[in-house]
Amino acid sequence: MTSYLRALRLVNFRNYADDTVLLKPGLNVVVGDNAQGKTNLLEAVAFAVTGSSPRTTNDPEVVRWGADFARIEARIATEGSGQERKVAVGYAPGQKKRLTVDGAPAPSLASYAAGGAGVRAVNFFPDDIRIVKGAPSDRREFLDGLLSTLRPSYARATGEYAKAVQQRNQLLRRIRDGFSSERTLSTWDRKVVDLGEQLLRGREEAMPVLDEHFASSLRALYGPEKAAVRYSYSVTPDEYAEALREAHGADIERGATSVGPHRDDFEVSLGGVDLITFGSQGQQRLATLALKFAARDHVRGATGEDPILLFDDVMSELDGRRREFLAGYFLESTQAVISTTNLEYFGEEILRRAQVIRISGGAVMETTTDGVAERVAEQRGSFRTA
Ligand SMILES: Nc1ncnc2c1ncn2[C@@H]1O[C@H](COP(=O)(O)OP(=O)(O)O)[C@@H](O)[C@H]1O
Ligand SMILES: [Mg+2]
Repeated sequence: MTSYLRALRLVNFRNYADDTVLLKPGLNVVVGDNAQGKTNLLEAVAFAVTGSSPRTTNDPEVVRWGADFARIEARIATEGSGQERKVAVGYAPGQKKRLTVDGAPAPSLASYAAGGAGVRAVNFFPDDIRIVKGAPSDRREFLDGLLSTLRPSYARATGEYAKAVQQRNQLLRRIRDGFSSERTLSTWDRKVVDLGEQLLRGREEAMPVLDEHFASSLRALYGPEKAAVRYSYSVTPDEYAEALREAHGADIERGATSVGPHRDDFEVSLGGVDLITFGSQGQQRLATLALKFAARDHVRGATGEDPILLFDDVMSELDGRRREFLAGYFLESTQAVISTTNLEYFGEEILRRAQVIRISGGAVMETTTDGVAERVAEQRGSFRTA
């Protein structure tokens, strides 16, 4: 079973008023000048299949200025079955998000994002380089995001764990200020450990798989040096409960929980060198790409389905050899949507086999498939009739 996104309708999403984009399996290239809506379009695809923006946690941002709601509808086709799933995400500031699958409300955002929409996505935005270059929280976010698309229970555990740590921290400060006694801490310790262990188990399971795929992806993208990712614990699961107990004094003083998965990190290395601290910009960018490819491999291994690849402006910073490698990689994926300002980054032969979507000012101007350009007016109706 292979699913892909066949059509997307954007209503009041970012700079799109109301437009429809038809997508093909394989490579789709979104081309346009700067500030026309390429990134917004990729964001909209992610919004449709996960229910959230990968670029912001502040939902009102995606609503078109001056509009009072945003809505994305998508048709997800399963190859060979002739069947199609209709999904929609509606959002009006101040109201709960509305997620529907074939007209029925999705049970939860977590289940919608973890396959409920019918397809998953792995995306790359230029800012993602912070996964390799940035703070431990950026790497944890990457890991938790990936695991949440695989299992809604993981997403729930992440949310509940964060809340439990926050509540424990509040209590720590109350104890410090003399409003509570230290004895009350043990209840929160237990809760934090229970939830934290779920996170650690999920991450421990994923790490070796990611490490293997990361190493082979970076070998293809960079060279023969051995690349690796390795989890680094603030405390191991065996010592978790005890370490939390032992930290009482220090935690009360700081008013913060010092050990647990919210303090963990993972190392990224190439040829034994720590890329987070010593990597060049170029190495960090390639390592970020390799991590995204590893995420795709992991999703495929765990679910049996290839996720959609959404890669924003990935070609501009690469040399010719790597561009060629990436173009081939995208062409052979179930579905990839790649944005660029410059079609010349893709070879002629590649473009013949791809679909090219030309956009300008928040609207689709033209779609070219098999070398044949189609005006958009004829396509718009297809959304309603399909
Ligand atoms: N909520 C919004 N409503 C209307 N326009 C927006 C909104 N958010 C961003 N934009 C506009 O969208 C344009 C950028 O689109 P973007 O997809 O980032 O362009 P690019 O083609 O360079 O990737 C900018 O002009 C920005 O001002
Ligand atoms: Mg952009």
